[in-house]
Amino acid sequence: MSPLHVTRTLPEDATDAALRADVQHGLTADPKTLPPKWFYDARGSELFERITELPEYYPTRAEREILTGRSGEIAAATGARTLVELGSGSSEKTRYLIDALTELRVYVPVDVSESALTQAGQALVEERPGLDVHALIADFTAALTLPDTPGPRLVAFLGGTLGNLLPAERAAFLASVRALLSPGDALLLGTDLVKDEGVLVRAYDDAAGVTAEFNKNVLSVVNRELGADFDPGAFEHVALWDAGKEWIEMRLRSRAAQTVKIPALDLAVDFAAGEELRTEVSAKFRRDGITAELASAGLELTDWWTDSQGRFALSLSTAR
Ligand SMILES: C[S@@+](CC[C@H](N)C(=O)[O-])C[C@H]1O[C@@H](n2cnc3c(N)ncnc32)[C@H](O)[C@@H]1O
Repeated sequence: MSPLHVTRTLPEDATDAALRADVQHGLTADPKTLPPKWFYDARGSELFERITELPEYYPTRAEREILTGRSGEIAAATGARTLVELGSGSSEKTRYLIDALTELRVYVPVDVSESALTQAGQALVEERPGLDVHALIADFTAALTLPDTPGPRLVAFLGGTLGNLLPAERAAFLASVRALLSPGDALLLGTDLVKDEGVLVRAYDDAAGVTAEFNKNVLSVVNRELGADFDPGAFEHVALWDAGKEWIEMRLRSRAAQTVKIPALDLAVDFAAGEELRTEVSAKFRRDGITAELASAGLELTDWWTDSQGRFALSLSTAR
């Protein structure tokens, strides 16, 4: 069994500096915002895994259905010897790809969540003794330096995580992915699709309240890391569909007027009663729109597969 290699391109103090900058900027902005990457400490990653099993949260099941049916085609089209996965989390669905890619030598999962990466990486080196697993603790929105591994490379970005980036961030991100691809390499992208509003909202506001707990976890992260005194119970989870932007927004609504102290930033943040803090957008896509976004980044969509109910899509693209 090859050992698990873990490389940190995010030094602890860089993570701390980035969190400070995001909290300072986001909580003094109008409206207030926090970027979704801060959900994913060990508890947030565990909560996300519970979300993927909820009856209302269809994206994981839909994407798994596509991967079950299409991994053979993806393997034949790419012949990948290295699989890089951005925002890999538990790498649970990735196993279908790993099993289908008969030439695969190296798997490079990339995530900000060290706990998710090491847990998934360790399980994979035990399950797949011939596979070299090189885990990278890194922010995929920053410049990525990948290990020198054999091509062709398949870069996977699953789970609809692309939708968590704002449009300008998406354009910059896709351009940076394009820059990682050499001739013969490919991008496998999972995108959630526009659909009935009720289905979408329920997926982000489940009856058991797991998504609400996940949403409020960002407040616990700021409390622990920056000594803040957020009371998660003083905020209500909100999920709504913005039909104009075609995205779901998750917000935390202050139940009363309150002031939150953040000693590490020497900051006191006032919330009015009913004021909302945006914690995540989750954009939903249409085939034409994502094809155009990929094209603007220098990528050509070559294959498009959906699940049997047309809820979620996987696409394969190559550099133009
Ligand atoms: C929506 S989850 C998807 C997880 C998995 N790919 C799936 O399909 O179930 C997003 C994942 O991306 C990671 N993540 C979020 N923002 C990130 C960033 N800026 N850089 C690296 N990883 C990030 C999170 O830790 C989490 O594991």
